[in-house]
Amino acid sequence: MNADLQNLDLFEGVSRIEDGSVDLIISDPPYGLGKDYGNDSDHVYGQDYVDFSRRWLDAVLPKMKPDGSMYVFLSWQHSPEVFSLFKTRMTMLNEIIWDRRVPSMGGSTRRYSSVHDNIGFFARSRNHYFDLDSIRIPYDAATKKARSRSIFVGKKWLEVGYNPKDLWSVSRLHRQDPERADHPTQKPLELVERMVLASCPPGGLVLDPFMGSGTTAVAALAHGRCFAGFEINPEYFAIAQERVLALSRPGTKAQAKSPRRRKNTAGVPVSLIAVE
Ligand SMILES: C[S@@+](CC[C@H](N)C(=O)[O-])C[C@H]1O[C@@H](n2cnc3c(N)ncnc32)[C@H](O)[C@@H]1O
Repeated sequence: MNADLQNLDLFEGVSRIEDGSVDLIISDPPYGLGKDYGNDSDHVYGQDYVDFSRRWLDAVLPKMKPDGSMYVFLSWQHSPEVFSLFKTRMTMLNEIIWDRRVPSMGGSTRRYSSVHDNIGFFARSRNHYFDLDSIRIPYDAATKKARSRSIFVGKKWLEVGYNPKDLWSVSRLHRQDPERADHPTQKPLELVERMVLASCPPGGLVLDPFMGSGTTAVAALAHGRCFAGFEINPEYFAIAQERVLALSRPGTKAQAKSPRRRKNTAGVPVSLIAVE
C-alpha cells in the first residue's frame, strides 16, 4: 500500500493532495489545552481555537470525495463551538464519546473528573461509505444463550454481531502499554481501526492532517488502505515513519488490534512515497 508521510506543516503540504481524492479524513488536532508538542500548536484557546479549526477544515475538506467522511477528535472545552461550525459544512452523523477508562485515583476536587474525548463523525452527503459488517461486535455466549428461542435461531443479527454504539470504552495507552510510542497524546489503534474499517473502502485513501506518532497510518496500512499525512514535529514524524516501516518487516509483531484482522498485519507490503 502507498504511504505518503510528510514532515510538514499541514497548511504548507496539503496542496500536494489531489482535490476529491480522499475517502476518509481522521483528524486529531491539538486540543487547545496547552500541551507541549515541541511547538506552540496547542496554545490556542477560545475563539482563536475555533478560527484554527475553520482554517484546517477549509484546507482539508476540498480533498474529500463526495461520499467521503471525517472523524474529528476534540475535547469538551471546544467541541460545542467546533461541531456547530462543522455542521454548517457537512452532515453530522454522530458524536462518539470515547471513554478513556481512566482509573479512579483522585482527580478534580471542585468538579467531576473528565474521562472522555468527543469525536465528531461527519459526512459530505448521506451517500457516505459505511461498511457496518466489518465492525460488528460478536454477541457473547451468554447473550446468544438468552436468545436461543426458536424465533431467534438463524437470525442474521445474532450470527454477525451487533453494531457499535456511540460510546466507545477503550483504555487510553498507559506508559507501560506495548503499543505506546513516545508521543503525549497517542490514540489507541483500536479506536482508529474501527474508523478505517467502517469508513474507508479497501484500497481507498485515508488522510490524517495531524499525524503525531502515526496511529492512523498504521491502522490504514495494516488494513489495506493507502495513507497520506502530515506532522510538523520531526521527532514525532520519525516515530510515525518507524511504526509504518515496522509494518512491512517480516516477523515484526503484528500491530493491528482488530481481532478479525490481526493475523494479516505483520509483513504488510508498504511503499513509502519519497518526499523531495
Ligand atoms: C493530538 S496530536 C496527534 C496524535 C496522533 N493521533 C497519535 O495517535 O499519535 C496532534 C499532533 O499535531 C501536530 N501538529 C500541530 N500543528 C500541526 C500542523 N500545522 N501541521 C502538522 N502537524 C501539526 C503536533 O505536533 C501533534 O503531534
